[in-house]
Amino acid sequence: MTYRILVAYASKHGATAEIARKIGDILGQAGLKVNVLPADKVIDLTPFDAVVLGSAVYAGSWCQEAIKFLEDYKTLLTKLPVWLFSSGPMGEGDPVSLVNGWHFPSAQRPIADRIHARDIALFHGAIDLEKLNFAEKQIVKEFKPLLGDYRDWDAITKWAVSIVASLRPEVAE
Ligand SMILES: Cc1cc2nc3c(=O)[nH]c(=O)nc-3n(C[C@H](O)[C@H](O)[C@H](O)COP(=O)(O)O)c2cc1C
Repeated sequence: MTYRILVAYASKHGATAEIARKIGDILGQAGLKVNVLPADKVIDLTPFDAVVLGSAVYAGSWCQEAIKFLEDYKTLLTKLPVWLFSSGPMGEGDPVSLVNGWHFPSAQRPIADRIHARDIALFHGAIDLEKLNFAEKQIVKEFKPLLGDYRDWDAITKWAVSIVASLRPEVAE
């Protein structure tokens, strides 16, 4: 059997999409068959043996496409190994500390618990002012977050490698 893993993501401005592609690259280099897809483009989970789902964080919430994915597939996801990640915090250092202990949206916690997510990661994010829409620029003006690209590719790579390690016994079956 070919072991196939889905990396689904929700991204408004591309930073989370690039994280998803990096995770997909690491899984692919380890010999897994990988599909990296926007969450709203997934129409069928049955070809997949494992799922990684990630979303950008805006105003403390996941993007709608990722929330819908979790809700639409919650029953199937209970039967698969699942990893979840968010990307958002701006600045150097521990991402959870940068957002005062926020780790995962509380509204989606019951589903994450129900599907027994094997791990839930929080990665730093990136803000490119030129990509933001008018409303987002107003929010940035008001809250003055750090701007730039704080994504920690080493942390992302380590996390993807830990997924490979966790799947080894299942892939070998
Ligand atoms: C208007 C706005 C609101 C944001 N709100 C949050 C937030 O509540 N928590 C957080 O950690 N990051 C927040 N961020 C940072 C984004 O999550 C970060 O830029 C992320 O990398 C964007 O990913 P994307 O390019 O895939 O959309 C916000 C950014 C913007 C522009």
